Amino acid sequence: MLIDHFDRRINYLRISVTNRCNLNCLYCRPLGTKQPSINDGLSRQEIVTVVHAATQLGISHIRLTGGEPLLRADLPELVGELSSIPDVTDLSLTTNGQLLSDIAEELAAAGLQRVNVSMDSLDSDRYQHLTGGGNLEQVWAGIRASQQAGLAPIKLNVVLIRGYNDTEVTDFAQLAREHGMNVRFIELMPMGAAASEAEALFYSADAARRQLAAELGRQTESGPGPATIWRLGRGTVGFIAAGSNPPCGTCNRLRLTTRGMLRPCLTSDIELDLTAALASPHPITATQQALREAVALKPRQGGHLTAEAPSTTEMSCVGG
Ligand code: 5AD
Repeated sequence: MLIDHFDRRINYLRISVTNRCNLNCLYCRPLGTKQPSINDGLSRQEIVTVVHAATQLGISHIRLTGGEPLLRADLPELVGELSSIPDVTDLSLTTNGQLLSDIAEELAAAGLQRVNVSMDSLDSDRYQHLTGGGNLEQVWAGIRASQQAGLAPIKLNVVLIRGYNDTEVTDFAQLAREHGMNVRFIELMPMGAAASEAEALFYSADAARRQLAAELGRQTESGPGPATIWRLGRGTVGFIAAGSNPPCGTCNRLRLTTRGMLRPCLTSDIELDLTAALASPHPITATQQALREAVALKPRQGGHLTAEAPSTTEMSCVGG
């Protein structure tokens, strides 16, 4: 069992399986001015080894992220191998949905349980602009295919962006209510290429919540998970103050970056190299040692990121 110095039980590992992306979102810009070295990082065998090692220490939740994980050619095989590890009880994926419609069924058949889909606007022109060329219809097709394949419940990640989608909060809430969707409004964090603009683009989760409360009246809130959640009809909306008030007290996660670094905290740039452990004669034992060290390094609270002092790490390597 992995318990950190602040009594938090760590049972969740997020793995960035590629830093490539087929979109170039305003706040992330993986194709931005400086092209990151393009790669899929760890091999499938290495990822499977890490997950084997991690499950023996009580990690049961695995999420594959990126970059855009669907760009990784061997993703179905990876999902298949991870889902056959008995102690992986929750296996999920975060995707921008552009390529999801054709592969949702194959991934579900391979053992994927759930998907989170990033969709920052319900207006196709605005979506295209925000994402640097994304096609909103494709996302909808991906969502429908996921529903049909039983990848449920589907969560929609909406990064709040002032001047762009702050006018769409009620539209997303309506979508949650009428289509049984689980919408998560996430505050923009100043990370990576677009950090300098983050201040101008920031719109708080609290402002989104107040907007909705004015419209719908006060709602019963549930917690104490990382997000404040409202139930709306068959769906839910959640408000994640990732930037202004990150839910560090209930953090249960570690991250594995594309470069093979264990990252104890999203917003602190502490990283621990796992590649040597994976290359050692006893990779499972060495990886477990590294996992314990990473847990011991988890800070009580994340670094306070500001536009002046952003995180230098590219989100596409860390995986959100
Ligand atoms: N701030 C907040 N959320 C971000 N994401 C990517 N970059 C940022 C950022 N700077 C989101 C993506 C995706 C999730 C994995 O993280 O939109 O929904």
